[in-house]
Amino acid sequence: MATRDDIIQAIGNGNSTATAIADAINKDRSHIARELKAMSDEGTLTRTKQGRSYHYDFVDDRSEDGLSVNKGYAWSEWMPEDVPEYIPSKREYEEIQAEVDHRETADNPAHIRLTGPTGCGKTHLARALAQELEAPFFDISVKWATDTTDLIGRFVLVDGETQWINGPLTKAILASRERPTVLLLDEINRARPETKSALYEALDDRAQITIDALGGEVVQGEAVNLVVISTMNVGQGHHVEELDLAEQRRLGNRWSIDFLGLNHPDRESQLIADRTPVSAMFAARLVEAANNVRRLANDPSEQLSRGIPTGLLLELAASAYKYAQAGLENAALRATRTAVVDPYYQRGDREITGRDTVISTFRSFFEGMPSEAVVENAELQAWADEDIVDTDADPEEAVG
Ligand SMILES: Nc1ncnc2c1ncn2[C@@H]1O[C@H](COP(=O)(O)OP(=O)(O)OP(=O)(O)O)[C@@H](O)[C@H]1O
Ligand SMILES: [Mg+2]
Repeated sequence: MATRDDIIQAIGNGNSTATAIADAINKDRSHIARELKAMSDEGTLTRTKQGRSYHYDFVDDRSEDGLSVNKGYAWSEWMPEDVPEYIPSKREYEEIQAEVDHRETADNPAHIRLTGPTGCGKTHLARALAQELEAPFFDISVKWATDTTDLIGRFVLVDGETQWINGPLTKAILASRERPTVLLLDEINRARPETKSALYEALDDRAQITIDALGGEVVQGEAVNLVVISTMNVGQGHHVEELDLAEQRRLGNRWSIDFLGLNHPDRESQLIADRTPVSAMFAARLVEAANNVRRLANDPSEQLSRGIPTGLLLELAASAYKYAQAGLENAALRATRTAVVDPYYQRGDREITGRDTVISTFRSFFEGMPSEAVVENAELQAWADEDIVDTDADPEEAVG
């Protein structure tokens, strides 16, 4: 597959003979010649003899008004790379992998629905899966304002000429004709009805889209190749459309994901220590503080609207490190404010309930901690020991 993408790219860069294409991508000429012949036999490329050699080009399947869906893409450009490992919070990843790996033999496309609070790793899971499958990855984040042109494509003026530019949904459908493809529909429950109907035509067994702007041109995909991951945030307070049963069925089985640290504090602190320069002990303490907040947020009787996402803990850790490096005092508490409390439990037009709870929880974990303890296990240990000694020595003062 990789060769074909390379070939398409080389042709797109203006090479047309087997020799030129083979040189451009550094591959054996006879192998490329065979591949080119096969592609023109299948109708993917045109082949014309000029002088002594054959010249290859994209099939020009433009409609009469000169506008049609461009189909020549090098899909490898859309394949995610260097995605860090996804760390499962429960058993979701192995089940989702099984859904994907056995979709062909089961003749049952892999449609996966993920719910969970913001920042629990839903997008990350989808990208990690695409990387594993070596699949091009298309990410559509759905908003109430998203309309069909955002999904399917639109006309744009290029050098005075009107051209049709495919949208991400069209690209995903096209890619699925050739290979497994991952389509992430972020916050699908925000879509308004017109947008939904375009989406659901693509998501059912037909795996196709109809482009009204191009005179009803139909682009047919390969349903079994289209791995669809849709996400929904819960407890966000923004406009959400209810999904009816038919829609839910198309979106597939559902997994609800929780913050990694609630089930596996050790894995989340490891993740923080791996991805940021903070010490393992500091990372563990961060997770413990965050888990206190998360447990309160899960309790409906509490005035706290949301827990702290893994992504924000990573931000907090990175900022605490920077403040410590700069010699600022109270690095951890400062970072709690700048990375978590102010952006996520913000003041201003809409106060997010629970701000004070977050502040007091993190104070109880980090008040008075020397900034060096952000990077040095020993410093953190010494400070923690000192704390305990003090309390033991003077119980009166500890209470006060
Ligand atoms: N289980 C996990 N394994 C590895 N990384 C994780 C995990 N959970 C969260 N992260 C990291 O946390 C950050 C936020 O994750 P991500 O963007 O995937 O969240 P999300 O659930 O898609 O959030 P949103 O609902 O806001 O889109 C990313 O940097 C991601 O790598
Ligand atoms: Mg996301």
